[in-house]
Amino acid sequence: MTRIDVGLGDRSYPILIEAGLLDRAGEHLARFARGGRLVVVTDESVAAAQLPRLVAGLGEVRVDAIILPSGEATKSWGMLERLTDQLMDHGVERSDRIVALGGGVIGDLVGFAASILKRGCGFVQVPTTLLAQVDSSVGGKTAINTRAGKNLIGAFHQPDTVMIDPTTLDTLPLREVRSGYAEVVKYGLIDDFDFFAWCEANAAALLDGDPDARTQAIAHSVAAKARVVAADERETTGTRALLNLGHTFGHALEAETGYSDVLLHGEAVACGMALAFRFSAAKGLCPGQDAVRVARHLDAAGLPTALKAAHVDTDGTTLVGHMAHDKKMEGGRLPFLLARGIGQTFLAKDVDLGEVAAFLDGER
Ligand SMILES: NC(=O)c1ccc[n+]([C@@H]2O[C@H](COP(=O)([O-])OP(=O)(O)OC[C@H]3O[C@@H](n4cnc5c(N)ncnc54)[C@H](O)[C@@H]3O)[C@@H](O)[C@H]2O)c1
Ligand SMILES: [Zn+2]
Repeated sequence: MTRIDVGLGDRSYPILIEAGLLDRAGEHLARFARGGRLVVVTDESVAAAQLPRLVAGLGEVRVDAIILPSGEATKSWGMLERLTDQLMDHGVERSDRIVALGGGVIGDLVGFAASILKRGCGFVQVPTTLLAQVDSSVGGKTAINTRAGKNLIGAFHQPDTVMIDPTTLDTLPLREVRSGYAEVVKYGLIDDFDFFAWCEANAAALLDGDPDARTQAIAHSVAAKARVVAADERETTGTRALLNLGHTFGHALEAETGYSDVLLHGEAVACGMALAFRFSAAKGLCPGQDAVRVARHLDAAGLPTALKAAHVDTDGTTLVGHMAHDKKMEGGRLPFLLARGIGQTFLAKDVDLGEVAAFLDGER
């Protein structure tokens, strides 16, 4: 088994990664049970696909399951109210650990509920999408979506343990696996050329379901994220901001497609990363061949790398307008993650939005 620790002093926690871990969940989670029972929160699809495995894996421990609807709309005030009410009905105490079994939607909602229930109780992440396994389950960002936008109401609340079983991905639709894979490639593009090269060599096996390739990719990604979180837990020094590579362009594409199934988050990020590299190349910061190589790899993984493939046909000014709504906006200029090459991402603070708009017009 691979164990990676997130070093946050007395709030440090382990991330356990191994194929088949769900079937032996009791070994790691039984100690969190109170009176022989554990509350597990999941969504309908995951309840059908993976909850029976977890229940069997917990052996003697009785499971009180709370099952919410699947989908992004579950990250709402209404569902937060419903969930916290149900957790209280189950008699959850501050010393309890709620188990979040699911993708980023369940992880973000349960984490936020845990952060406010009885002024903060514990929770365990058991992520079941590739996106959640390599990104959202680690780092303690929790949130819901509101009228004002996505993830604007939330808290930093670290889990007590993260338990990752790569075989849970066997029931995840391939499109969701590909989408999560964009976040894997991101770690290579940020600061790890060798890992990007590993991705080029192993993406086909990973997408095809190879458990070793999946486990290695997850372990490498989680270790990278754990390092960043330990160095900059609350995104104050700028290190954690590097994880947003491709996300400013990506958010504009998601906003334009209405945060819908037309374009999944990872698909938007893939296109956003390709755009960030081409923009960097156009500014003379990065060799053009690196931008081509990034796009070629993402294309091969079945991810969109051009506006058309992302189902976006809008002028640059409109897209930049979506970016300007971004919470990180600093007076007419936006901090942008650009690249000097593969594995050499940096935060540029002085990017002119007019220049970005003109670049995007050229991409249509
Ligand atoms: N907290 C963070 O740091 C962070 C980081 C990135 C993304 N996020 C959030 O994560 C969310 C997206 O997460 P996601 O992509 O995991 O989406 P998701 O949780 O909606 O899961 C995608 C779909 O797959 C289904 N599913 C999940 N696991 C399955 C399995 N093993 N088998 C079959 N079906 C399964 C779900 O029911 C859902 O329909 C967004 O709300 C985003 O804001 C948070
Ligand atoms: Zn992301």
